[in-house]
Amino acid sequence: MSLEVLVYGDPVLRRKSQPIETVTEEIRELAADMIETMYVEEGVGLAAPQVGVSIRMLVADAEYDEETRPARVFVNPEILESWGEWKFDEGCLSVPGIRADVVRPEAIKLRYQDLDGNVHEEEMHEIWARILQHEIDHLDGKLFVDYLSPIKRSLIMKKLKALAKESKGRITV
Ligand code: NI
Repeated sequence: MSLEVLVYGDPVLRRKSQPIETVTEEIRELAADMIETMYVEEGVGLAAPQVGVSIRMLVADAEYDEETRPARVFVNPEILESWGEWKFDEGCLSVPGIRADVVRPEAIKLRYQDLDGNVHEEEMHEIWARILQHEIDHLDGKLFVDYLSPIKRSLIMKKLKALAKESKGRITV
């Protein structure tokens, strides 16, 4: 079931999400719905708060292959280490029609759980690292536009107010 994605201005997007203690059937179903929503909205990542649920879970698919749909689910993801620097043009399903260059670490070491509750550690680079950093920010109530300079941000906010929900790029998280 495809879910509605909350857009900029919704207070849920600014809340800090709660850790998941046990992966229940309900959470598994939410993960499946989030994956479906991500593909419907043509995004490469989606965090639970974006569909109105303040828990620490996100889905992502950097390959974005609609045929095979190899989406991954990350429960309680946390960044243990990060390094390097990489500038990338970001967008967000919750900030439709807006894109901007954001500098973030190029690589991260991530710890997360899967839907069976197993803990994993993984090193990620470039686009995967970017998506995970962007989505983990959502779990902390942070949006990519928060990284922009005040001037750039005020220009974007004007544009944002004038925009409808129509624009959706491929690299939109
Ligand atoms: Ni986003």
